[in-house]
Amino acid sequence: MTQSPKIKRSLSGIKSTGFPHLGNYLGMIQPAIDLQDDYEAFYFVADLHALTSVRDPKLMLESTHIITSYFLAFGLDVERAAFFRQSDIVDVPTLAWMLSCVTHMGMLERAHSYKAARDEGREKSINHGVFGYPVLMASDILIYDADVVPVGSDQIQHIEMTRDMAVRFNQAFGGEFLKLPEARVRENVATVPGIDGRKMSKSYGNEIQPLLPPKKLRKRIMSIETDSKTMEDPKDPDTCTVFALYSLFADAAELEAMRQNYLGGGYGYGHAKQALFEQMDAHFSPYREEFERLMAAPDHLEAVLARGAERVAPVVSDVMSRVRAATGLPTRR
Ligand code: TYM
Repeated sequence: MTQSPKIKRSLSGIKSTGFPHLGNYLGMIQPAIDLQDDYEAFYFVADLHALTSVRDPKLMLESTHIITSYFLAFGLDVERAAFFRQSDIVDVPTLAWMLSCVTHMGMLERAHSYKAARDEGREKSINHGVFGYPVLMASDILIYDADVVPVGSDQIQHIEMTRDMAVRFNQAFGGEFLKLPEARVRENVATVPGIDGRKMSKSYGNEIQPLLPPKKLRKRIMSIETDSKTMEDPKDPDTCTVFALYSLFADAAELEAMRQNYLGGGYGYGHAKQALFEQMDAHFSPYREEFERLMAAPDHLEAVLARGAERVAPVVSDVMSRVRAATGLPTRR
């Protein structure tokens, strides 16, 4: 399957570090699935990236199946789209090395995650995988001649670095060998907040998992942090995490009604949380069963992943031939 000249390619990945959270789902999974109608879609489980932190082989395998089941349950059509494991594409680390050789340390030192670790004094204990993370990610993207990369806003810097690495490689070897991709960020879900109001992230422990059973989902929603206003007080919808999350599920009329409730007072955060729970439960309950059904069929999931890897192989082979020829490495494999 080589790329038809008319159809552009959408590419993205998600780490196998456990259950996806609402930020992953709204920021990447659903937008990526939606793009399958207009793009050739290549999506993968970033198990090599997960290795920067995961030390539990069972978790690695289980997470891969969880993420695959998510994509399938929410409607990725693997008749059209390819879904695969990053580590099945054995050329990815080779291209990453080639990119490493044109990437300055200074650029990697500016990466947000590395800078944060350094600012917190963790620089010495950080592993090389974390430092080199943006290079592996650039390889992930460039090896598929990707046009667009659906992501949340925290990945924009990585896509900019990817473009930078492609330009450096092309300049170093004198040709248009690598295609420059574009980040595709859905504005209203670019940074979904977690229960403490900061960006939803596993590392903050503030996540909400969309497919939790209703009781647990409700409990999690009830634990969203709010200010100490009493039920009678008027409230500010624009600084409230419950309202922010509600806005991602409610329609315009429902949202306006809640805004008026906030401004008018006599409406408690408990009411707002209950309304958010009802919206989320209605949105996600149709998918829970399908997710469970998929999780109970690991052989099917493995077959989907194997097929995905096969489907992307010709594209990888094209790109690798180009870059190997450009650098003077033998192209016969
Ligand atoms: P990961 O696994 O951390 O996150 C997967 C996707 O979820 C998005 N996301 C969010 N979006 C909105 N609000 C949030 N609170 C939120 N939290 C996470 C992320 O932006 C991401 O799109 N480095 C990537 C994995 C990766 C990749 C790639 C992505 C590896 N290679 C190549 C694109 C292309 C990552 O850590 O994703």
